Amino acid sequence: MSYTEKWWKHAVVYQVYPRSFQDSNGDGIGDLKGIIQRLDYLKELGVDALWLSPVCKSPQDDNGYDISDYQDIDPMFGSMEDMEQLIAEAKKRNIRIILDLVLNHSSDEHRWFQEAKKSKDNPYHDYYVWRDGEEGIYPNDMDSVFGGSAWEWVPELKQYYFHQFSVKQPDLNWENPKVRREIYSMILWWMEKGVGGFRLDVIDQIAKDPDLKITNNGPKLHEFIRELSHETFQKGDLITVGEAWGADTERAKLYSNPDGSEFSMVFQFEHIGLDQQEGKEKWDTAPLPLVKLKAVLAKWQKELYGCGWNSLFWNNHDLPRIVSRWGNDEKYRVESAKMLAALLHGMQGTPYIYQGEELGMTNVCFADIGEYQDIEIRNMYKERMEAGYKKEDIMESIYARGRDNARTPMQWSAAENAGFTTGNPWIGINPNYTDINAESELANPDSVFHYYQKLIQLRKEHSVFVDGEFELLMEEDEQIFAYTRTDADTKLLVCANFSDKEAECPILKEWDDAETLIRNYKNDCQSGRMRPYEAVIKVM
Ligand code: GLC
Ligand code: CA
Repeated sequence: MSYTEKWWKHAVVYQVYPRSFQDSNGDGIGDLKGIIQRLDYLKELGVDALWLSPVCKSPQDDNGYDISDYQDIDPMFGSMEDMEQLIAEAKKRNIRIILDLVLNHSSDEHRWFQEAKKSKDNPYHDYYVWRDGEEGIYPNDMDSVFGGSAWEWVPELKQYYFHQFSVKQPDLNWENPKVRREIYSMILWWMEKGVGGFRLDVIDQIAKDPDLKITNNGPKLHEFIRELSHETFQKGDLITVGEAWGADTERAKLYSNPDGSEFSMVFQFEHIGLDQQEGKEKWDTAPLPLVKLKAVLAKWQKELYGCGWNSLFWNNHDLPRIVSRWGNDEKYRVESAKMLAALLHGMQGTPYIYQGEELGMTNVCFADIGEYQDIEIRNMYKERMEAGYKKEDIMESIYARGRDNARTPMQWSAAENAGFTTGNPWIGINPNYTDINAESELANPDSVFHYYQKLIQLRKEHSVFVDGEFELLMEEDEQIFAYTRTDADTKLLVCANFSDKEAECPILKEWDDAETLIRNYKNDCQSGRMRPYEAVIKVM
């Protein structure tokens, strides 16, 4: 199959965060059987693949991103039979299952690590990254992403192990060929089971070199990835997407090389960090500079055209809800949720929808820090309290950026617990579920859900969405985000007002006679003017 015929170029992927999607047995935690129950809903939305956040065996220190057995399902989510059934039931509906591979680190409860810490000459010792030392004197001053030192002392060995994330997530040593081989055979085993692809967690961090303080983009990164791809993915017809916070467009062209030597595509995050104070942390928010957002996204569209492939996303389980972030989750919730969807789905690449995004779900504001479950939020709260930040300011940062915003349960209906569980949900449900839920969205032809459904259909009907060349219009405009997509015989206009005020949009006049494919207000826009958060896609 040639590159241009790759199925994933025409696909739309839906991300499921299993613990918050659907509980089937009343323990308050979503599970695989719950996902099976909702496959018809996903089919109706029209998605082609589901990316599941990790469901492998895990002590859940970081909600499953700390795996203790890559070839078993955590009992909390069900059994291997449930997984096989999910793959089979999804297949009946032409939906593929994408698994989340966490290969930069394992859990400290993984058998490999249990062995590794027994002695320096244990065969598994070199599966991890160790440095000799003295208690209390760290090998260097590197910090972990979740706060504190990246080094943890093991007294029995008089050694430190390296962990870029929590202490319970020791980094795997990719320099060791045995580690790489174990990983490949595990991936091939999953491929045998019929999975449709993989998302590769923090993959740009595998080639670390702690002595040089290198975390991502290490010198051997692409060598490792090419070997990984050659030994595994290239033996199937898979979608593979690497999570790469450190990717620029040059690297992304390697990652998504049309020769298939690495992945299908990567998640890059350049657009995601724009509303943050420069040089500060994600918690230190700043207003979104729209002109910059347009420039960044346009750059990715242009530079990967014909020589790479983009992933398109606003949301995932680590990010706040987009309608609360760059839209307006009050007066214009519905309009702005649709506007953001149109802008993203009009671009070239494979769109990813995060569960609940298709309902216009919003951020949550828990009053009490105790209601937050995320290890990152908890650690940050503690650190900033100790550093003397005001409690109100810390809570504001959590409301704006905390990962639990995206992790509250899926809102299925106005019934008790939003139809998510009959038991006690593992994390609080956003109280707005009585208004915002799948049942009411399905009943309303003008809902956010039906808008996403239509966008997905449009991508399938008009190949210009897949192939068309991107051109940004009105670059300097502070309210309008507009671009065209052009192929041999079709031209699309995607035009959106990114603000809560009316806006002049002269470009629209040239498109007055063109057919409207989709809009987010009842009547077509007036020539040359756009209402708050109005969006339209036209074709000629
Ligand atoms: C990725 C995951 C995130 C996790 C981290 C460590 O960024 O998306 O949820 O905490 O990797 O595995
Ligand atoms: Ca359950």
